[in-house]
Amino acid sequence: MAKSKTVFVCQNCGVESAKWIGRCPSCKEWNTYHEEIIAPASSKSLSFATDREKSKPELLDNIKADEKNRHKTGISELDRILGGGMVGGSLILLGGEPGVGKSTLALQLALALKNTTILYVSGEESNEQISLRARRLKGSNPLCYVLSETELENILAYSENLKPGLIIIDSIQTISNGMLESSAGSVSQVRECAAQLLKYSKISGIPVFLIGHITKDGTLAGPKVLEHIVDVVLYFEGDNNYVYRILRSVKNRYGSTSELGIFEMGESGLKEVNNPSDLFINQHDESLSGISIAATVDGLRPFLIETQALVSSAVYGTPQRSSTGFDIRRLNMLLAVLEKRAGFRLGIKDVFLNIAGGIKVNDPAIDLAIISSVLSSNLDIPISREVCFAGETGLSGEIRPVSRIEQRIREASKMGFKKICLSKYHRNVDIKGIEIEVVHVGKIEHLVRSLFS
Ligand code: TYD
Ligand code: MG
Repeated sequence: MAKSKTVFVCQNCGVESAKWIGRCPSCKEWNTYHEEIIAPASSKSLSFATDREKSKPELLDNIKADEKNRHKTGISELDRILGGGMVGGSLILLGGEPGVGKSTLALQLALALKNTTILYVSGEESNEQISLRARRLKGSNPLCYVLSETELENILAYSENLKPGLIIIDSIQTISNGMLESSAGSVSQVRECAAQLLKYSKISGIPVFLIGHITKDGTLAGPKVLEHIVDVVLYFEGDNNYVYRILRSVKNRYGSTSELGIFEMGESGLKEVNNPSDLFINQHDESLSGISIAATVDGLRPFLIETQALVSSAVYGTPQRSSTGFDIRRLNMLLAVLEKRAGFRLGIKDVFLNIAGGIKVNDPAIDLAIISSVLSSNLDIPISREVCFAGETGLSGEIRPVSRIEQRIREASKMGFKKICLSKYHRNVDIKGIEIEVVHVGKIEHLVRSLFS
């Protein structure tokens, strides 16, 4: 028998090395090299190895591929992200932090797909636990099989028997291939199992839904390599203290990656949110200072979101700056612009910023709303609840145009806003038929004048 070989593999990016290294030359992480045993190549392939017939060259024009191969999942937010449904033979990876709701979403998917045999494999939960969860989700699917198994070969053997329409695996880090001696969750196991599953799904035409854990720093645990192997990479994000969850696609071989799905975690599982603006704007009866509404777009999806600021005299020598849901460095930059270009002495003030709903916003168009709420709190003058904002702020205090402005205006009007503030540099904005007053601002001074005078 050939002697088994060991290599050192970076658990962060998957780079291999013959000897141990303290710092990975590829991803620059420290102490990520672990020794892994590789089995001799001859014993590696599983029994269902590629059959020659299916992999012969074909003329592109002769290949029949139709959209019928897409199956609606029954969860419309998920369909939207997948580009209109699940494609047969695709490998979909769902990543997310522990507790965000990956298993819940996967089980809901299993319960929502009607008339399809489903093989739900869990390496983390027992059949009883899954059944309890299914009862909690108040769904039932008479064709859903549950399997507690971690051995890849067994999973594939059961799948060969059942011929399911979908395989769900919770999670890739718990399954292992007996041919490899390294433990489940190591880079070589994760990579090998994903590659085998990809091969299996391509040959059988069965879509496979994989769940993957992500590490503290937000990357898929170990397998950066996984992202290259699979067809679709979805990330499930959300703060455990809030009920909103956002499903994003970062890679999709069968659709666009600019879609976004929004869910609400409730008593009986995840509920789709069709009108996010409703959720992210708090209803106040009285007008309070320090609050303004931003018309943001995430991916292709417009929604309005409330920004809240509190500006008060600094208690300690060094003023505090704190921000939730918005980049603190960008907040500091905006404060510097306000100080330098509009003469507000914010350097001696504490500034606290909060984006409603525990949502993280990266859209630069939120700048204008942030500046407005900071100024409103600083001057203690409330901003009318009928105004919203969309604009980026430059270092010289100019208000810059932002993308998809018509979509933002339309969403604002739909939500009942009477006025929207945006950059005066927008050209050819087509707002025919939209009932809303558009206020163009060129510089922060103009904003201050139009808001507070
Ligand atoms: P889970 O799907 O187990 O997360 P993951 O697989 O990503 O680790 O869900 C975790 C949380 O969701 C858990 O803390 C409880 C909560 N939850 C609800 O609030 N309502 C529900 O109906 C279910 C099933 C879970
Ligand atoms: Mg789970």
